[in-house]
Amino acid sequence: MKGVILAGGTGSRLSPLTKITNKHLLPVFNKPMVYYPLETLIEAGITEIMIVTGGVYAGEFLRLLGNGSEFGLKHIHYTYQKGEGGIAAALKLAEDFAGKDKLAVMLGDNIIEGSISRFAAAYEKQEKGAKIILKEVPHPERFGCARIRNGKLVKIIEKPKTPPSNYAVTGIYFYDRQVFEIIRHLKPSGRGEMEITDVNNWYLNKGELTFDFLKGWWTDAGTFESLLTANNLVAKKKR
Ligand code: DAU
Repeated sequence: MKGVILAGGTGSRLSPLTKITNKHLLPVFNKPMVYYPLETLIEAGITEIMIVTGGVYAGEFLRLLGNGSEFGLKHIHYTYQKGEGGIAAALKLAEDFAGKDKLAVMLGDNIIEGSISRFAAAYEKQEKGAKIILKEVPHPERFGCARIRNGKLVKIIEKPKTPPSNYAVTGIYFYDRQVFEIIRHLKPSGRGEMEITDVNNWYLNKGELTFDFLKGWWTDAGTFESLLTANNLVAKKKR
């Protein structure tokens, strides 16, 4: 399985911090944000990794991560997203890199306490389709939110006004090759982005989406509040 970290976008919700750098290079306690998803993938045994970034600070990722040797990697792959077409548009750029392999995808602003190795192992055994990871949260309206009926996942709704559950879809996804065909057929959402939630619902409607629940804390770091939360959670873990 290969890994992809999506670290494009403009990070406009963190302006003015993101006026002078890419969101994923901002510090979270003692490390730049992008270190966390990178270390999470590596800890799960994934060593072939591509970083999708964008904006005018893309070159800084090279300065920071180099060829990955500091992380025990032989190499890191990079690609560049023009503009802010959405998470699915960023993922599409990893098509050649993925080849025929399965992918573990992490959003560059997602930070977790624990490990994804259990999910990666389960997905290796999954014949086809995709897998998403859910987490119970106090504000599900901020995220993709899962509608669950009788223990079955029936729909994912992106930032619902009235959340159907407290389960957020985390930015940890597992996909097979079909994902690129699905993205080719996507239409931009109301906010003008290619939504990863549409991709996940496509798999769901085909009966090819499995899900599991994340243990330990999870946070994104894309708003001032969540960036502060991320800093505090990481600091507490380190002490
Ligand atoms: O954090 C989990 C949530 O992430 C999910 O629950 C939502 O379903 C999903 O849509 C996403 O929601 P956000 O609105 O928080 O996503 P955001 O636009 O902040 O983008 C998250 C990361 O995705 C960002 O740190 C970098 C990457 N990204 C995003 C966009 C829009 C890209 O690489 N390129 C892009 O064009």
